[in-house]
Amino acid sequence: MNPSPLHILLTGAGSGLGRGLALALAGNGHHLFLIDKNGEAANETRGLLGPAADRASAHALDVTSSAQIEALLASLGDQRIDVLMNNAGLQYVSPIEDFPEEKWDLLMDVMLKGPFLLTKAVLPRMRRNGFGRIINIGSIHSLIASPLKAAYVAAKHGLIGFTKTAALETADAEITVNTICPAYLRTPLVDAQLQAQAQARGITEQQVIDQIMLEPMPKRRFITIEEVAAAAEFLMSHEARNITGQTLTIDGGWVAH
Ligand SMILES: NC(=O)c1ccc[n+]([C@@H]2O[C@H](COP(=O)([O-])OP(=O)(O)OC[C@H]3O[C@@H](n4cnc5c(N)ncnc54)[C@H](O)[C@@H]3O)[C@@H](O)[C@H]2O)c1
Repeated sequence: MNPSPLHILLTGAGSGLGRGLALALAGNGHHLFLIDKNGEAANETRGLLGPAADRASAHALDVTSSAQIEALLASLGDQRIDVLMNNAGLQYVSPIEDFPEEKWDLLMDVMLKGPFLLTKAVLPRMRRNGFGRIINIGSIHSLIASPLKAAYVAAKHGLIGFTKTAALETADAEITVNTICPAYLRTPLVDAQLQAQAQARGITEQQVIDQIMLEPMPKRRFITIEEVAAAAEFLMSHEARNITGQTLTIDGGWVAH
């Protein structure tokens, strides 16, 4: 059976989905290592946990840095890491012709190399402990494309390939690796791209919400953080021990088209 409560290392914990996941998972009794490039934001998230903050620690860490990851794991000593949630991410919206090379590299590094580096770092510990769950936060853009999001779509598609490979390599242990793919959630990442998309397409922000974000979702409503947290909680459970290398899509029916 699973260790309980679980010790969860969550990246991108300083904002949006990561902050919401931290609140939900801490509320379920788990211990959290809250990771964000913005250490102050991770600390703020910890402050929001109330009494559960005693079961959480906040760490400033750039997921693209293997040196910082190594230093973090060394600082944790022999504490368990039962679950790795690769959630840190960012968006950049531009036609390919104008897409800055450094933005391409940044998105790839944060959303593809970061999960690779962290997986590589935590797997020996998970194997030693005889238990592990790796949950990668993909996106509807792991499965379909949208114009203007070349780097994001490529990184999120790549994450599914990485997940499948990691699942095969860990099949001999009590470890699973899966990707959760939500469609649009109202987080700062989405709010920030409303203006950029409206400008690039010559439409209003409300039209971006209605025509670009909600129109492809038959259920026509934003996904909530609680739905993603519940899916993650299921993937962490003993009952999900044979679910590995999979994609759990929460998209209001988008890919059923
Ligand atoms: N918001 C959505 O609609 C949506 C939909 C599907 C998937 N997602 C995915 O959910 C995840 C979280 O997105 P969000 O909407 O909460 O975004 P957000 O911008 O609100 O939060 C992202 C967090 O990641 C952190 N971060 C960025 N680069 C980092 C790095 N190099 N190292 C460590 N931390 C870093 C940021 O500081 C920030 O706190 C992303 O992977 C995103 O692709 C979001």
